[in-house]
Amino acid sequence: MKVSPSLLSANFACLERDIDMINRSEADLLHLDVMDGVFVPNISFGFPVINAIAPMCQKPLDTHLMIVEPQNYISQVRDTGASIMTVHYEACTHLHRVVQQIRNAGMLAGVALNPATPVSLLVDILSEIDLVLVMSVNPGFGGQKFIERALDKVSELRRMIDQAGVTTEIEVDGGVNADTGARLAAAGADIVVAGNYVFKNDSPIEAINTLKAM
Ligand code: DX5
Ligand code: ZN
Repeated sequence: MKVSPSLLSANFACLERDIDMINRSEADLLHLDVMDGVFVPNISFGFPVINAIAPMCQKPLDTHLMIVEPQNYISQVRDTGASIMTVHYEACTHLHRVVQQIRNAGMLAGVALNPATPVSLLVDILSEIDLVLVMSVNPGFGGQKFIERALDKVSELRRMIDQAGVTTEIEVDGGVNADTGARLAAAGADIVVAGNYVFKNDSPIEAINTLKAM
């Protein structure tokens, strides 16, 4: 599987050190969780921080916007140099338009689903999106317990994608570790996000390798 370590669990006083570790690792992406205190009950970091770290990071930036009105920030995300911009299904009234705007800005378009949002709601847009981010915790915080139902959602999404003959990737975010990672790989996930499992690990590089090998 591909691995996208989540910077949310890094030491914010030592971001350069932690990004250097990611650069030296086998990680495929760097996951950046932007929170606005409205869509989710927490505030993380925004564009000043992302713009400061982007030049240090050699991995493609995987931005996950947990904010309302994400369509208003597409050009600012693009200007960070991000490769992927993921918006929440629940935050977009005109999801089709937002996805088109993200692609027109030159980025891959991702759509995130909260735990209570069924994957079947994506059937009419699956061929237009590059990635589905299945939330396996309620968004807003790192270090939460994996919601088992996410495994069924990944299996169902895998069937939908294969049936449609599209190349949309399945990314899973929240509570990923060696145990849940193995089960997600078996269910058909392409990418896992890992915050605490990587950054709170005695050996973050090995933790990344463990997930990569699945
Ligand atoms: C939660 C974020 C996640 C978070 C995952 O709202 O979207 O990306 O950093 O953290 P862990 O892997 O610790 O559950
Ligand atoms: Zn995330």
